[in-house]
Amino acid sequence: MRDRTKEKVFPKDFQWGVATSAFQLEGSPNADWTTWDPALSDMPQITNHYALFREDLKLLKDLGVNAYRFSLEWSRIQPRPDTWDEEAIAHYQEIIDILHGYHIEPMVTLHHFTLPRWFLERTPWHRTASIEKYLRYVEMMVSTLRDVRTWITFNEPYVIVIGGYMDGCTPPGLRDVPRALVALKNIFTAHGKAYDIIHRYVPDSRVSVAHNMSVFAPWKTWNPLDRLLKKTANYFYNHSIINAFRTGIFIIKFPFSRQVEIEVPIKDKLDFFGVNYYTRIHLRFNPFKKMGVELRHLDIDGHGLTNLGWEIHPRGLAKVLRYASRLNVPIIITENGIASYDTEEKVKYMKRHVDVIERCLKEGLDIRGYYYWTLIDNYEWLQGLDARFGLYRVDFKTLKRTPTSAASYYSYLIQSRSQL
Ligand code: GAL
Repeated sequence: MRDRTKEKVFPKDFQWGVATSAFQLEGSPNADWTTWDPALSDMPQITNHYALFREDLKLLKDLGVNAYRFSLEWSRIQPRPDTWDEEAIAHYQEIIDILHGYHIEPMVTLHHFTLPRWFLERTPWHRTASIEKYLRYVEMMVSTLRDVRTWITFNEPYVIVIGGYMDGCTPPGLRDVPRALVALKNIFTAHGKAYDIIHRYVPDSRVSVAHNMSVFAPWKTWNPLDRLLKKTANYFYNHSIINAFRTGIFIIKFPFSRQVEIEVPIKDKLDFFGVNYYTRIHLRFNPFKKMGVELRHLDIDGHGLTNLGWEIHPRGLAKVLRYASRLNVPIIITENGIASYDTEEKVKYMKRHVDVIERCLKEGLDIRGYYYWTLIDNYEWLQGLDARFGLYRVDFKTLKRTPTSAASYYSYLIQSRSQL
């Protein structure tokens, strides 16, 4: 193997992390998703991380990461509109304290897809009152939790809107474009206001969303409709949010329909930009499919497809990072990972993506961190327990965690690429 010691490219304080979300590890009796997915009734505690968190945090120490992204399960903290569960809050504070004890910097996600059931029932995102309810929770968290500088207000806000209001595969399960646009406005208004609240309580805080970015391609390059779809998807999914953070206006353009402009108080309300990147998607116009679009993953680069059938396309990461650099704020890859039972595949995936980051750093992009998704096998939103993204394998019968060779490879990668 090539000796890299003379050509260290990653900055000294580069964040080498792992990302998780609370619900995917520990479930919650009061979350909307618990009743949404009937399969969860057989395994409500999933990996039982809520009880086993101390052992799991020790795995982070063993890996040698210096950063950890995790989320607070809002439905545990505020199980009813007027009830704040002190024990749950103390639980998440203990996680933060343990991390500091290990010299691991916490990055806290305030909202990672799940909601308290009362919120979904009374004030889902398409109701204006959702903003105030979310902000009340945010203020309670930032005023109570100690020693957190880095906050993510929303994980994948577009995915919340597309899944919940356009495709209907996630709560509240609607297919209603006018409501989707209202939900988008409310979520980003909530982000803008939360940004100010967090900075009021934590003056040196760094706040962002974690935005899912993908590369798109036409299914058939010769087909003008497929090419138009690619252009539309790329603009909407990757660029419209970047423009909105620069101007305070979302401009939504779909072919053959009127352009929509939505004003939101988010201009410059971003201290860094969190990018979740996994794959490339091929698109085909098909009037018989939902929204006239058919999605497919093709193994064009020869890197293969993941367990979930997603194309492995490391070059795409460079593309989206260049798009993100238009924001002129530091970029952090807040999620990147592969679902696979084959740990060699996992190792290759990780190496290829970290190589791309290294090239982007050489190009001059301001990238400050890489968070591998994820620490231990967990619950995947639409696929249940088969996805296997973990560096540690979980046996869901015994709940035993076993390291895979991808865990030791990540430790090696961190050591060999860092300027220690
Ligand atoms: C992301 C999401 C994570 C995880 C991951 C793998 O979009 O934020 O929660 O599920 O995908 O599919």
